[in-house]
Amino acid sequence: MVNADEFIDEKIAEIDDEIGDANAVIALSGGVDSSTAAALAYEAVGDQLTPVYVDTGLMRKGETKQIRETFDYMDSLRIVDARDRFLEGLSGVTDPEEKRHVIGEQFIREFETVAKDVDADFLVQGTIYPDRIESEGTIKSHHNVGGLPDVVDFDGIVEPMRDLYKDEVREVARALDLEEVVSERMPFPGPGLAVRIIGEVTEEKLEVARESNHVVEEELEEYEPWQALAAVIGKATGVKGDNRVHGWVVSVRSVESRDGMTARAQEIDWDTLQRIQSRITGENETVSRVVYDVTHKPPATIEYE
Ligand code: XMP
Repeated sequence: MVNADEFIDEKIAEIDDEIGDANAVIALSGGVDSSTAAALAYEAVGDQLTPVYVDTGLMRKGETKQIRETFDYMDSLRIVDARDRFLEGLSGVTDPEEKRHVIGEQFIREFETVAKDVDADFLVQGTIYPDRIESEGTIKSHHNVGGLPDVVDFDGIVEPMRDLYKDEVREVARALDLEEVVSERMPFPGPGLAVRIIGEVTEEKLEVARESNHVVEEELEEYEPWQALAAVIGKATGVKGDNRVHGWVVSVRSVESRDGMTARAQEIDWDTLQRIQSRITGENETVSRVVYDVTHKPPATIEYE
């Protein structure tokens, strides 16, 4: 990408040309990629674009509120509350790939309902270059709305950022005047907190994961990590008050990366780690232990499942 402003003008013209008078849909995740793609496409075709945010219940703390505020100016915005349906579908599912599959399928179902309702001919996606590379490989099944074209007969898929790296997307987001909370937001996986929970996804684990991720994002902001996260990785014995408890183990991870394909675990000072530990165990009755993950990618991945 040469220049963000030129890129924006070029893409708006291209999208307008491609979609014409038809209708389009885009799935919003709260992340910088889909937000930027939605803002670009909305500039191009206005309310012919319906941005859809599916609240899966697997999102970050405050995500739904954030979406509502950021995209308030788009009259066509749809917010679908599907929390119960996702949790139900995930009940008893422990295999990582099966979890991703369940989430992907449910997502498609939710999104399909809106796409059909608004008679959408085009699907706009915030796919970026590294997504395409990782999906081509066999690393893991990436969740986006990739399966949707199989069930809805779109005339076309519009991916304005398919050749960009994440740092270039951020440049475009800034040039589009998207709020800093969006343009500087860390990447967040499509399957959300489900890939930060080992084993079955339950309401209790989700609550721990959501709160712990929030603490980690807050406390590590000054380190400017590519991604900082917390995962619920199992149970271990601890002592709370006078009682021995069998509580959750939360793993904290903070990495530097350019494109997510490789990553380095960040060195974090002891005081910060201790503050994170004390907030997570203090604010969550059921957490008995906090550990810090020092593994690079490879051999580990960034997420846990
Ligand atoms: P891993 O865990 O494979 O993650 O090292 C690399 C980057 O991709 C994000 N990620 C996903 N993003 N759908 C997404 O949109 C997914 O299914 C998915 N899985 C991982 C991850 O957060 C990291 O930035």
